[in-house]
Amino acid sequence: MDKLVINGGKSLNGSVTISGAKNAVVAIIPAALLVDGKCIIENVPTIDDVSVITDILSQLGAKIKLINKTTLEIDCTHVDTYCADNSMVRKMRASYYLMGALLGKFNKAVVSMPGGCDFGSRPIDQHLKGFKALGAEITQENGNYSLRADQLVGSHIFFDVVSVGATINVMLAAVKAQGLTIIENAAKEPHIVDVANFLNSMGANIKGAGTDVIKIKGVDFLRGGTYSVIPDYIEAGTYMLMAAGVGGDVIIKNVIPKHLESISAKLIETGANVVEYDDSIRVINSSRLQPCRIKTLPYPGFPTDLQPLAVTLLTTASGTSYVNESVWDNRFQYIDELRRFGANINVDGNTASIEGVSRLEGCQAKAVDLRAGAAMVMAALMAQGQSEITNLKYIDRGYEDLEEKLTNLGADIKRICDFEGSPLNIAN
Ligand code: EPU
Repeated sequence: MDKLVINGGKSLNGSVTISGAKNAVVAIIPAALLVDGKCIIENVPTIDDVSVITDILSQLGAKIKLINKTTLEIDCTHVDTYCADNSMVRKMRASYYLMGALLGKFNKAVVSMPGGCDFGSRPIDQHLKGFKALGAEITQENGNYSLRADQLVGSHIFFDVVSVGATINVMLAAVKAQGLTIIENAAKEPHIVDVANFLNSMGANIKGAGTDVIKIKGVDFLRGGTYSVIPDYIEAGTYMLMAAGVGGDVIIKNVIPKHLESISAKLIETGANVVEYDDSIRVINSSRLQPCRIKTLPYPGFPTDLQPLAVTLLTTASGTSYVNESVWDNRFQYIDELRRFGANINVDGNTASIEGVSRLEGCQAKAVDLRAGAAMVMAALMAQGQSEITNLKYIDRGYEDLEEKLTNLGADIKRICDFEGSPLNIAN
């Protein structure tokens, strides 16, 4: 099994460039199914989730070319199957976008139930509610969803919960439906705006993405074109929190500072210095941080995906902090791993209380999911002594060149590869 060996206690200094957004690109790639013609997608991160979703599209008959490290050409004109029911689909959460995309393209879809990181129950009832409102009949058999409509017709949909996946999925299905679809209580994450911008640049008519009401006027045809994916605000937030927690002076380049406001605000509250520029952000810290309270919320609130890194940040603050997870039922599974570093954390329901300790100590710990994996790396960078982090398959799903980027910032981090099991074979 591959592992990262990290000698902690070294400050981070210099600059890091942020890659394209994982949660945008894993929706934009399946969205290309709706387009008749070639889509050139730029600023694509090199991460395992992208390999998996492009492999799934290739299996469906899409022609995909890597033009350069960050640019893909996707041509789905000749895709003629609406069945995506295989083990690859079951391994990945974002494969649920195949439902909306195939339904939008063919008026029918057979898609395996999606997998993904384990944060407790991950229902997709709101996705299904949206598809049904557009006229699809849905059955469930042998681990697959089967969706079928004579003709998708625009509808007025009010989501019961704010869901990123349901908002994007219904947008995908509605883009070529007959008439007007209105989504109320839509999610507002930057990747929702990015998927809408991608579809609009190919000829769709979507208005209001980024607000809680999205209006989609169905069109007959989407043409090919070129689109560049937005920077990953969760990756940017990861480096911001690492810079503040480990200490140092880091400029995070290729970001949209507006997307990072909830993170900047919390870092400033804890005493770190944050400076915003047009498309970069600088985080400086050399002292012990103040404790604080954080509650995760849908965008523009503090992102759940940075909750494990925020908890890690507060493990050495000068007092007791409270972090409330309000998006997922069970996103504290990594806390036992964090305790191995000497962190003093008590979890009661959806709230972690973190008693700041004077320092963390190096240890062996494992990534239990993608963001928790990044949190383990952060704890190891903050700790005195050597740590080993295993289960890197999770980290490789969503962080491009993590150890190279950290090495460039002065971290002492090395990957020890076990060549028997290539990380590219696994994407959960
Ligand atoms: N929910 C429902 N019913 C639904 C859909 C969601 O009850 O039909 C609930 C969920 O159980 C959860 C909440 O609504 O409590 C939010 O779920 P959402 O649908 O927004 O999550 P998702 O679309 O499955 C995406 C990201 C996650 C991120 C969440 C929240 C992708 C591929 N995944 O998941 O990202 O945590 O939004 O922001 O976009 C990650 O990148 O590490 C990651 C897990």
